[in-house]
Amino acid sequence: MSPSRHAVFGHPVAHSLSPRIHASFAKQTGIALQYEAIETTPEAFTASLAAFAASGGKGANVTLPLKEAAFKLCVDVSPRAKRAGAVNTLTRTEDGANWRGDNTDGAGLLRDLGDRQGLDLRERRTLLLGAGGAARGVAPALLDAGIGDLYVVNRDSARADALIDAQGQPGRVHSRYYTDLPALGEFDLIINATSAARNGGMQKLPMSLIGARTACVDLSYGEAAIPFLAWARAANAHEAIDGLGMLVEQAAESFQLWHGVRPETDEVYEALRGRNAALVTAD
Ligand code: ATR
Repeated sequence: MSPSRHAVFGHPVAHSLSPRIHASFAKQTGIALQYEAIETTPEAFTASLAAFAASGGKGANVTLPLKEAAFKLCVDVSPRAKRAGAVNTLTRTEDGANWRGDNTDGAGLLRDLGDRQGLDLRERRTLLLGAGGAARGVAPALLDAGIGDLYVVNRDSARADALIDAQGQPGRVHSRYYTDLPALGEFDLIINATSAARNGGMQKLPMSLIGARTACVDLSYGEAAIPFLAWARAANAHEAIDGLGMLVEQAAESFQLWHGVRPETDEVYEALRGRNAALVTAD
């Protein structure tokens, strides 16, 4: 039987760890899989995906900056992808004519924070930095996990307002400006969902945001996670966690959607953590 054909689309995507993660899951579960990284600009995405489908592509992950474009081209999306307005997992429909979309980012984050890091998220007063595709992917899952009030801060406040409106919980989810941060007090959970480290650098954050039990989480990993996690450690955060675990867990969710089997994640997580040890650590 020829291997099932899958890929991750992104821009840039050359350094994506997804091919390695999916290859490891395939080996572990005995599934014949071909998984490649396909570099595509937003302008070329639709044509590139069509070519992939024409050559037998059955499923794709979608990363920066294509998650909103992926959402728009699906014939059908899951409820969680709809709330996020962003898709990170595409599956070919049975008739082979269209794509169905899902978003496994939020579930991946919850699995990492809950199962791997042992954090209880319930009632945590939460600050979400950023309102792009990554932030929108995780906000619904955090609310469903029972966090307390959610404060969203973004440079472009219209994007923060759109994220908040999509949640439909006006008493619980609030929009604030970066200039408001010094007056907001301490948070129990701070999530960096910005791409600031790759885009001109992080905004200045006051240390008053961090208290004795604050967990700080960057959705990126590797060098992109360094500035925020360095700030968190300097301010004595209780935990400083990067997005490597979330990356592995969202991949496992996608793998299960495509192949119907849930892979074990610890082995590949530990292998990648070893490779990234100099750059990233979870306290
Ligand atoms: P992603 O899918 O990673 O969320 P995105 O949709 O392009 O990518 O969103 C990037 C996020 O990082 C946005 O919230 C963006 O803020 P704006 O909407 O105000 O542009 C945020 N971001 C990027 N560079 C930033 C910087 N230097 N400082 C603060 N926020 C930044």
